[in-house]
Amino acid sequence: MSILFLDQSGELGGAELCLVDLANSLKDRCLVGLFADGAHYRLLQQMGIPAQVLTTKALPVSKESGVLQGLGSLRQLIPLVVTVANLSRQHQVIYANTQKALVVGGLASMISQRPLVFHLHDILSADHFSATNRRIAIMLANHFAALVIANSEASRDAFIQAGGKPDRVQVVYNGFDPQRYQVSTLETQQLRQQLGLSGQFVVGHFSRLSPWKGQHILIEALTHCPNPVTVLLVGSALFGENAYVKQLHQQIAQLGLMNRVRFLGFRTDVPQLMSACDLIAHTSTAPEPFGRVIIEAMLVGRPVVAAAAGGAVELLVPGETGWLTPPADPQELAAVIQYCFEHPDRTAKIAQQAHHIARERFDLKAINHRIDQLLEQVVTI
Ligand code: UDP
Ligand code: GLC
Repeated sequence: MSILFLDQSGELGGAELCLVDLANSLKDRCLVGLFADGAHYRLLQQMGIPAQVLTTKALPVSKESGVLQGLGSLRQLIPLVVTVANLSRQHQVIYANTQKALVVGGLASMISQRPLVFHLHDILSADHFSATNRRIAIMLANHFAALVIANSEASRDAFIQAGGKPDRVQVVYNGFDPQRYQVSTLETQQLRQQLGLSGQFVVGHFSRLSPWKGQHILIEALTHCPNPVTVLLVGSALFGENAYVKQLHQQIAQLGLMNRVRFLGFRTDVPQLMSACDLIAHTSTAPEPFGRVIIEAMLVGRPVVAAAAGGAVELLVPGETGWLTPPADPQELAAVIQYCFEHPDRTAKIAQQAHHIARERFDLKAINHRIDQLLEQVVTI
């Protein structure tokens, strides 16, 4: 079976990293069609995964767009829909990995009569999308998708609540290659030294810089933590959130935390950097659809504290495999940081338990196999 994957993003967000891992296991029988050039395309090429940039024109649909804007945008999509419809004739399934890919893939599937699979990486709620965009996504998914793969129960539930057909959805978590997350003690020590982290209790935050990812909550929490606690912010403003980056710098300056917060920008050595941290914090202020960074921290064997909303609550059991704190609550977060700082043995035990469980529950091979089986079913319907 041959698959035409579609993804709108030139950047490497979590949905794209999930797609790269899936397409890598199917590279002898897939093509990844992108709606933008950039780091995503370069990574696919580097890994030998067949990929094509199908358009370099910015697609005009935004997360907040209204009805008129939405309809106007549809007209501009026609050339891309035709390209995708033609390409899809050489494949058996169209696999849309993002919302705009669903719009284009849905219309193309109608023309080429190829079944459409939609991988839902988002929580379709008012926290994340305008009412119009939710309606469009649900209408397209209900009408065109033979299968919706939701990245968590939270994403599935929001889909159904927004009007999505329950019998179309299957929950499949992101998978991870455990080998990628094995970092030697020597490598960790060297990195800590290089980054000048000796003697510090380092709380790492790994995410694009964006208001709902809540880096400001961690900075606020830092004001309640003793001095050896420092923060590493790993990630960049992938989707143009430059005002937020400015705001973070201002907040740090106002709180006098310049010596206790470091920005490392977007990095490709996340496992190594995580291993150089003492604790990983996830601080999303809106429900996280899945939260790859939570599982990655577990696989590296580092303790993790996550914001208790959305998919994140499905990923760890508080007190057994990590900690959960209410979203946007810097004081509670500071209390967990303080606890981990003061109880290294108990904290290491929890990280170890999490490591075992994450290896079993989120194994890339098993999860890719499950998706392959689901795709087979779609093709044989
Ligand atoms: N990530 C990365 N480099 C960075 C920051 C983040 O490669 O500098 C990766 C991170 O390891 C994770 C992904 O980006 O795999 C983010 O996925 P997540 O599901 O946590 O959040 P998203 O950004 O997709 O909402
Ligand atoms: C999206 C979500 C994130 C999820 C990722 C992979 O980017 O925001 O929560 O982990 O997709 O499914």
